[in-house]
Amino acid sequence: MQLTFHSSLGESRIWLGRQAGESIAAALAEFPGPRLLLTESRVARAQGHFQEQVMDRVDLQRLVLPEGEGAKNSANLLTVLGEMAELGLERGSPLLAWGGGMVGDLGGLAASLWKRGVPFCCVPTSLLAMVDAAVGGKTAINFGGQRNSVGSFWPARAIWIDLDSLATLRPEDWSSGFGELLKAAWLQDDEWARQLERQPAELLRADHPDLPAHVERALRFKLEIVEQDEREAGCRMLLNLGHTFAHALEALRGEELKHGHAVLLGMLAAARTARLAGVADAATADMMEDRLRGVLLELGLLPAPALAELAVPVILARMAQDKKVSAGRLRLVLPVRPGEARLETVTLPLLERALTDWGGLLT
Ligand SMILES: NC(=O)c1ccc[n+]([C@@H]2O[C@H](COP(=O)([O-])OP(=O)(O)OC[C@H]3O[C@@H](n4cnc5c(N)ncnc54)[C@H](O)[C@@H]3O)[C@@H](O)[C@H]2O)c1
Repeated sequence: MQLTFHSSLGESRIWLGRQAGESIAAALAEFPGPRLLLTESRVARAQGHFQEQVMDRVDLQRLVLPEGEGAKNSANLLTVLGEMAELGLERGSPLLAWGGGMVGDLGGLAASLWKRGVPFCCVPTSLLAMVDAAVGGKTAINFGGQRNSVGSFWPARAIWIDLDSLATLRPEDWSSGFGELLKAAWLQDDEWARQLERQPAELLRADHPDLPAHVERALRFKLEIVEQDEREAGCRMLLNLGHTFAHALEALRGEELKHGHAVLLGMLAAARTARLAGVADAATADMMEDRLRGVLLELGLLPAPALAELAVPVILARMAQDKKVSAGRLRLVLPVRPGEARLETVTLPLLERALTDWGGLLT
């Protein structure tokens, strides 16, 4: 199946299916060489045979970075730019990022910088990257102790989502992807959210018959939003449901907390904040918290005593770094109910109470 989307860079294509090798090789051959394939060590081990199938058909130089969020840094960005220089990538020569959100974010940034921008193509291999990170054109590295603090908007020209590649994903990376999938459903449609919540553990396998439909739905949802608001000046901000909390938790817990897990925990904090801010009534907030706690329990993310012990002022200080505090207030995306969220300005004392309550929900 093919989807197209439009950005300030023009039209882009998304291929969704299984066994993407031939399609990738054929499309890359249309770009002038030299071409760079950027990947990382775990994906190179798990997907090496797929990558070689493509490299047999089209001339590609492969660069393998270390795996993990810690590799999304300025040193590796320079390594990639150095490789592009050495290869002599021209303005029309592509960089293909093949991996999860880490490789996609870093590769996209390098592609946007080299010669003021070369074509960026992407093979997202984690569920999280398929349903979220690969689409929408946000690129970044972590810098100065802050997540995604150096980045650009540089949409991929072509994206191949090969569901077969999920077969090698570890359980924790599956459930991390589920976090962003559920976030999309909580923003769009309660019935969809309930479908996902009924079967989190069973859904998380590459050959599950419902998986393609959920991935496609999440993709279409994100495309619809970023086509309306590419630069996050309006409705795209809603995609940050749970994210201001999540970024603070990720900064405090480091690599031991996966992004999608932090998003689920952040959605629980957002639900409690919505209750205190009067965005959700008490009965709806009870229902939202029960449902999110149910998912977190089923995915083995609760109880979380180490997170419950984090000092609230420390979390607040981190959140204030992520989002600008003005006049003692912070703007957050809060759920009205599953299927609907809105931007709301909340005071720091209210947020402090919400975070204290949230700690109690984690044990
Ligand atoms: N640009 C955006 O809009 C956007 C949106 C959401 C998240 N992100 C970013 O994405 C990153 C998180 O994404 P992620 O979870 O994919 O991170 P990741 O790339 O670090 O992948 C997570 C883990 O899964 C492994 N992996 C990936 N695909 C695999 C496969 N097919 N088989 C075996 N192992 C595989 C990786 O080696 C890694 O260990 C964060 O850096 C986050 O900031 C970006």
